[in-house]
Amino acid sequence: MSIRKVFVGGNHKCNGSVTATSSRARLLAEAAPDLPSSDDVDIVIAPPAPYILTTKAVLDEHGSSAAVALQDVAIAREGGAHTGTVAADMAADLGAAWVIVGHSERRHVYGESDAHTRAKIAAVLDADLGLIYCVGETLEQREGGDAFGPVAAQMAALFDNPALATKPELWANIVVAYEPVWAIGTGKVASPEQAQEIHTQLRAAVAAATSPDIAAAVRIIYGGSVKLANCAELIAMPDIDGFLIGGASLKPEFVDIIKTAA
Ligand code: G3P
Repeated sequence: MSIRKVFVGGNHKCNGSVTATSSRARLLAEAAPDLPSSDDVDIVIAPPAPYILTTKAVLDEHGSSAAVALQDVAIAREGGAHTGTVAADMAADLGAAWVIVGHSERRHVYGESDAHTRAKIAAVLDADLGLIYCVGETLEQREGGDAFGPVAAQMAALFDNPALATKPELWANIVVAYEPVWAIGTGKVASPEQAQEIHTQLRAAVAAATSPDIAAAVRIIYGGSVKLANCAELIAMPDIDGFLIGGASLKPEFVDIIKTAA
């Protein structure tokens, strides 16, 4: 079990409507009396961007401590010529407190470049928002015998960030999400041992790039086919600090996973 505050995120991906997203937010908010205290768990839900305001309104109406996240972000702050995307400032304006950057679907489906990922990290940190930074290897890379190499390469985008170099306290606003591409949406969840191994290597990489204190404090969460049936054995591992959940976050099961995780 982790020594850090548990973090559970629900990534709704491209699923939702005003009705469905409101219902999911209401289900979470109404479950609050049965959920762990906000002292023990950070709960974040990431609806599709058009429904951030709807989600925030429902959570606020019920006095929920859950926060809202943007699933992706523009490479520049508000005011730029970036058609079709949402700036970090807009997310903050809508009440979102977190932004997911580097999700494998942005990298591998929409072709996000490392340069764009780096720019998005800078925009989120500059806007004083929380950053959920996703890393993970493909099945080909794992089967080729180098699972951590690609993950370490993705972490360079954080380690090279100028703001983090001059203001290391910003690491308190960062959650690293290890999401092996081969486990996302496939039902093939990483074993606790597989996830713990990468999380251990990630924490060691953070320690080497920053400091032992920052590495000990940063939350490293797992994502990729997390379900109620497998979350207990995963969260039992000392370096798994929570989850970033896709499919199961669309269902009432999401509440039960939070109860199990914290
Ligand atoms: O960001 C979380 C997501 O990639 C995991 O999806 O459906 O495998 O839980 P899923």
